[in-house]
Amino acid sequence: MPSVQTERSEALAAAAGSAEKRAYVRSVFSQIAPRYDLLNHLLSLSIDKRWRRRAVAALRWDRDPSGVYVDLCAGTMDVANELARKPGFRGIVLGTDFAEPMLRAGREKIAARPVAPMVADAVELPLRTGTAAGAIVAFGARNLENLDAGLTEAFRVLRDGATFVILEFSMPRVPVVRSLYRLYFHYVLPALGRLVSRHPTAYRYLPASVDSFPNEEELARRMTRAGFVNVRVTRLSFGIAAIHAGERRDTGATR
Ligand SMILES: C[S@@+](CC[C@H](N)C(=O)[O-])C[C@H]1O[C@@H](n2cnc3c(N)ncnc32)[C@H](O)[C@@H]1O
Repeated sequence: MPSVQTERSEALAAAAGSAEKRAYVRSVFSQIAPRYDLLNHLLSLSIDKRWRRRAVAALRWDRDPSGVYVDLCAGTMDVANELARKPGFRGIVLGTDFAEPMLRAGREKIAARPVAPMVADAVELPLRTGTAAGAIVAFGARNLENLDAGLTEAFRVLRDGATFVILEFSMPRVPVVRSLYRLYFHYVLPALGRLVSRHPTAYRYLPASVDSFPNEEELARRMTRAGFVNVRVTRLSFGIAAIHAGERRDTGATR
């Protein structure tokens, strides 16, 4: 049986992007899947629901309500559900994730919705180039072993003019809010998370992965480097989370 110290080191190494990150992330989410939704809403006091609504609005799906939309790293499909339930939405949402138990845990909420769960890696989507009317990833980008490969893959599947949205944790800038938040994120959340999820490291990995994720400016730069234009950032709840949105615009030359 691995010691607590070994488990901690595994979580921290995974957060830092070691070669084992993909396997670690997939195994953690597969294990915590049945309690993921409960923990999400509990640990964020349900603010996460509001953040997802804002992120879906940033997708500007109303420009093409009949299109194919991709929810990357969909997990239990809260985002896919949020989009599919919108009055006027007539398209389809592909809820893609590489941890099948996460998709299974969200099955009931999308039962009567135009959502198709799909087991797929975000860096290798089984979709043709230029087919999606929009793509969104909520709290998934930080988990990718290779962020740039994920951005490039999202760009590939989008069609000209389509929007890509990233909702991810960030860091408050006001020092006192930042200190309080770090206290909660690094001490209270891992303890509560461990108790409810019964997973030894999942909720230690969460703050560590946020710490090692690019800041807002850097993420915007990386999106631009992947080909997205008009990249804009919206800070949420004192900067605890942020929405990045950008567009694919073809200039004539195909990538
Ligand atoms: C924190 S959860 C977010 C789930 C959901 N989007 C939400 O808003 O609650 C991260 C999800 O990303 C998935 N994931 C991480 N890396 C992935 C990859 N390379 N390909 C597909 N899914 C991935 C995990 O399996 C997990 O379900």
